[in-house]
Amino acid sequence: MERFDKQPAMIVHDGQPFNAESPLGQLRQNFLTSKDLFFSRNHGSIPEVNPDGYRLTVDGLVDSPLELSMEDLRGFPKKEVTAVMQCAGNRRDGLIQVAPIPGETPWGAGAIGNARWAGVSLREVLLATGVGDEARHAAFSGLDEVEGADGESFDYGGSIPVEKALGPEVLLAYEMNGEILPLEHGFPLRVVAPGYYGARSVKWLSGITLQEAPSDNYFQTHEYKLFAPGVSAETVEFFEGLMLGEMQVNAVICEPADGASLDAGPVYVRGYAVAGGGRRVERVDVSSDGGRSWVQADLLEGADEPWAWSFWEANLDLPPGEHRVVVRALDSSAGTQPATAAEVWNFKGYANNSWHGVRVMVR
Ligand code: MTE
Repeated sequence: MERFDKQPAMIVHDGQPFNAESPLGQLRQNFLTSKDLFFSRNHGSIPEVNPDGYRLTVDGLVDSPLELSMEDLRGFPKKEVTAVMQCAGNRRDGLIQVAPIPGETPWGAGAIGNARWAGVSLREVLLATGVGDEARHAAFSGLDEVEGADGESFDYGGSIPVEKALGPEVLLAYEMNGEILPLEHGFPLRVVAPGYYGARSVKWLSGITLQEAPSDNYFQTHEYKLFAPGVSAETVEFFEGLMLGEMQVNAVICEPADGASLDAGPVYVRGYAVAGGGRRVERVDVSSDGGRSWVQADLLEGADEPWAWSFWEANLDLPPGEHRVVVRALDSSAGTQPATAAEVWNFKGYANNSWHGVRVMVR
């Protein structure tokens, strides 16, 4: 199986298409997630694109359509953004504990990573083509081939609202952490839509179309939509449901690991927290009694960066016995996390931002 030079400790859910997440202990070691530890989420083939022949088309409701080579794209000013990429399926395992979610990857809390992306500002490209008055959405298509349920094949796509596309933070990225974008992360060019779930950050980007409606690609109309708790695969009406965009506030304990056995005394609890849509992580609370009382964690790197994740740390004094340690974050809109996964269960298993917890045994 092709592992794309990922570290041996990566948790590989599928070989084809390749789907792998980062082990939490390693994920928390570096503020920027290295490429060999960065989760990879794919719905189809990973295309090998010849950068010399590569062209990006920008068309639809624009004043003058463009076809851009990599050389043309590198001619625009280079822009860098540190941004977290999080799959909407991150932490699906917590929802599966509430009720089964058949046919979906059972991601733990490692379908997330934080990188320094560099490329062209999408805004600059759109200002070069001109944005038509009627344009409401920027639809992206990828060069990968996805196989549908009936054996038909189609490309991956998705869209973001034009206001978001014109935000200074959205990139057409050709570098990740100072190196050429790796193959499995979208070489030679991908969208990075900071503050949004990863689904809209289309890899191996082939085209951008400005249009009145959101993308009609399967992954915008049938996947990455949030349905009410009572909706099932049998009863779903796909035109209903929320097209996921902005991430909500979320926090995860990376250390100690679930099930760890610890010596009595001070215990360092460490993890990551994210806030979507350009909001900041304002506060992180940690509880060692399942949420009855809380201590405030220290916010470390990233807390003042709107698009990155924040690292946090709390020091607990735990007496001998078994403890359930839980975390919750608060973002700059005062939004916080629901206590239980049951409150946010949905049949596709997206957007689990309920309190994250680990059980530890103190000797
Ligand atoms: N783009 C294409 N072309 N094909 C895909 O399967 N997966 C999306 C998004 N962009 C996908 C894609 C999803 S669901 C996520 S979470 C992110 O890419 C994952 O990015 P990564 O693999 O670089 O971590």
